[in-house]
Amino acid sequence: MGTYVPEKVLTNSDLERMVDTSDDWIRCRTGIVERRVVEGDTATSDLAAAAAKKALEDAGINDSEIDLILVATSTPDMIFPSTACLVQSKLGINGCAAFDIQAACSGFVYGLTVASQFIESGMYKTVLLIGADAFTKHINWEDRNTCILFGDGAGAFVLHEVENGYGLLSSYLMADGRGADLLKIPAGGSAHPGSEYSVQNKLHFVQMNGNAVFKFAVRILHEAAIGALTKAGLTVGDIDYLIPHQANIRIIDAAMERLGIDRNKIILNLEKYGNTSTASIPLALYDLYNSGDLKRGDLLLFVGFGAGLTWGANIIRWV
Ligand code: UT7
Repeated sequence: MGTYVPEKVLTNSDLERMVDTSDDWIRCRTGIVERRVVEGDTATSDLAAAAAKKALEDAGINDSEIDLILVATSTPDMIFPSTACLVQSKLGINGCAAFDIQAACSGFVYGLTVASQFIESGMYKTVLLIGADAFTKHINWEDRNTCILFGDGAGAFVLHEVENGYGLLSSYLMADGRGADLLKIPAGGSAHPGSEYSVQNKLHFVQMNGNAVFKFAVRILHEAAIGALTKAGLTVGDIDYLIPHQANIRIIDAAMERLGIDRNKIILNLEKYGNTSTASIPLALYDLYNSGDLKRGDLLLFVGFGAGLTWGANIIRWV
């Protein structure tokens, strides 16, 4: 496992000088205190490659053993080639498959599910899965509804076969395209390619209906967690650690209360990183991994949600 966050810290106090907001409002309404932001021409593939290098070192494997590079991102460097191919080149890895997965902030939960299918089917032995996003590149720094929320980062995992009963035990994936308008970057794709009009109308920035996404998130965090638990034949009481997508502490609190899970089993990092999209679950998992508390046999529940709308959950027994 390996992670990377940019060095530049953007605090709530910094944001107070940019838009009409306050440190108090952001802390109380979101739980976020600071976030990391990329600078200059740093792109998602740079974050992803930096995290991947650490993961490869941590795994102690040879680059040639990687069969597939999978990057979950909704802020790719460009429309094509895929960020996975750019990461492959930056890592100097040759002779493997590479592609991106786009499921917005649910990308890591989707990506882990897809990666494990290749391993379970026997098609590949070793998959490098990376969740990476540079959302702050797509933020309208005059929009206080969105600019306070997002940060940048990446988390990478080297995945391979494990003994029965360990690793990914179940996945629950869901989407509802009727909610596509609630959270989007309208321009830059084939619907609205870059134009004078798209730039003038700020269509290359994140647009969000915060209240609607909030209500959706509280509802589906519960649904996804129960969905994955049921598939694995487990109950909430079996879970040792729950890692939710780190979007807003009030969303997490409300959903976790409904789920009836102990607060001390929930891993949080949004205070220091904000919403890092596909990187948020990996970054939080890395904190847990480094704390030394994680032990063989622990049951982990990951729950993600995001644009699309998409949502999902994974249950993992730590090896
Ligand atoms: O990965 C998924 C990504 N997205 C999410 O998870 C976002 C989910 N939504 C949210 O987290 C919340 O809806 C927000 C944090 C975006 C907004 O919080 P809220 O409690 O839903 O606030 P609100 O939009 O209902 O606004 C309440 C008030 C409004 O003022 P009035 O109309 O009551 O006078 C807003 O204009 O707060 C105002 N407001 C702010 N004030 C200070 C909205 N944003 C800000 C701000 N600073 N940054």
